[in-house]
Amino acid sequence: KNADKPARGIQVFIGPYIHSLSWTEPLVVQPNGVIGVKDGKIVIVDTAENLDTLKASHSFGDSDIIKLQEGEFLMPGLIDTHIHAPQYPNVGIGLDLPLLEWLDKYTFPLEAKYKDPKFAELVYRKVVEKTINNGTTTASYFTTIHTSSSEVMADMVEAYGQRALVGKVCMDCYSPDYYVETTEESLSGTTEFVKKILDRKNPLVLPTITPRFALTCSEDLLKGLGAIAKEHDVHIQTHLDESIPEIERAMELFPQYKNYADIYGGTGLLSSKAIMAHCVHITDEELEILKENNTSISHCPTSNNSLLSGHCPVKKLRNAGVKVGLGTDVAGGYTPSILEEMRHAIMTAKTLSIEGRESEPLTFREALYLATLGGAEALAMEQEIGNFQVGKSFDALVIGLEHELSPIDLFPESDINVLVEKFIMLGDDRNIVKVFVNGQLVKSY
Ligand code: GUN
Ligand code: FE
Repeated sequence: KNADKPARGIQVFIGPYIHSLSWTEPLVVQPNGVIGVKDGKIVIVDTAENLDTLKASHSFGDSDIIKLQEGEFLMPGLIDTHIHAPQYPNVGIGLDLPLLEWLDKYTFPLEAKYKDPKFAELVYRKVVEKTINNGTTTASYFTTIHTSSSEVMADMVEAYGQRALVGKVCMDCYSPDYYVETTEESLSGTTEFVKKILDRKNPLVLPTITPRFALTCSEDLLKGLGAIAKEHDVHIQTHLDESIPEIERAMELFPQYKNYADIYGGTGLLSSKAIMAHCVHITDEELEILKENNTSISHCPTSNNSLLSGHCPVKKLRNAGVKVGLGTDVAGGYTPSILEEMRHAIMTAKTLSIEGRESEPLTFREALYLATLGGAEALAMEQEIGNFQVGKSFDALVIGLEHELSPIDLFPESDINVLVEKFIMLGDDRNIVKVFVNGQLVKSY
């Protein structure tokens, strides 16, 4: 644990930086950048040729300057828009079954163990350490149905300085008898959790309303959760159109709704702060419903392959104008690394392109956008994070490719564009030299 006190005064980084400006301008490279940070916020985004003028206008001196080393560059922090913290002990195992069978055999028995807050503390510490180590500066976490261990998760992200949405999972039916709540317990637990987290007044840690999915929630519960989300103006997260058997079951349970998306829409769970994980099999009609509600999608390519859910046409979804970010979906996804998700997003798009289901594959630049600014937009946090703009928080990574243990070999002619592409395709946590959240150093080699 390398958490540091937030730097007082101004800190000025000099060196290359990269970031996304939009879906259509997904990679901007500045080889001679200057980024100034004060009280966690970005106050300067400029180039080194203006350094003298900047020194005068922002009154900083050489002692406030941090010069990046050879082979290093700055990039925005990675954003994981969908991760199940309690499933972390299962990463890398139990991927022999499709979604619904996988939930019954591996996931529910593990999640039931978080009745014990001590077990939660042990796992949640590791989750936060590991995601920060992998450059995740913001994560949207699912916990379990247990309110007290969900608070342990909020404590943990707060202690480590990660930015996070934390959601107590809600499930009141069609769940195993050892892992289920009553509608009343689910609603009162959610209200209690939301109030407690909001009362902390920590802008980095926010509560999110978390119905697991339509298959484990009654209509009364969904409606009640929609009302709580509206009352407190908080985020919402759930799963949508992940697998074919899941969709069939959802429509059996809710025949009065037009389609799966309409189940959430009709119960007040689609908003501009709602994130729908997967959407592998989403129809055009449902996509329209998401658009109308300005609801976003979390694309979880590793999980979609691992659980045999299908290949999500992410480029089509994003080109339709829906906000999209990336999610690890631990432990349906076997990695806590968003960098890995970028690669799996690229490979999934290539598969779809080979099969003729998508006309264009996803570029590494577009994958970078999805992992940073796209994630910020998906979480409705693009005013705060996602790229380097004056006024946003400094959530950033220093990437270093000359590290002794780097998996990447460089050659003399390698320019910054090459470094970025190599990092996205080959890099890992050893290349993530420093991690900042809101200007605070949370990882440093
Ligand atoms: N749908 C409902 N619960 C889950 C879960 O825990 N993981 C995934 N991947 N899908 C779900
Ligand atoms: Fe999930």
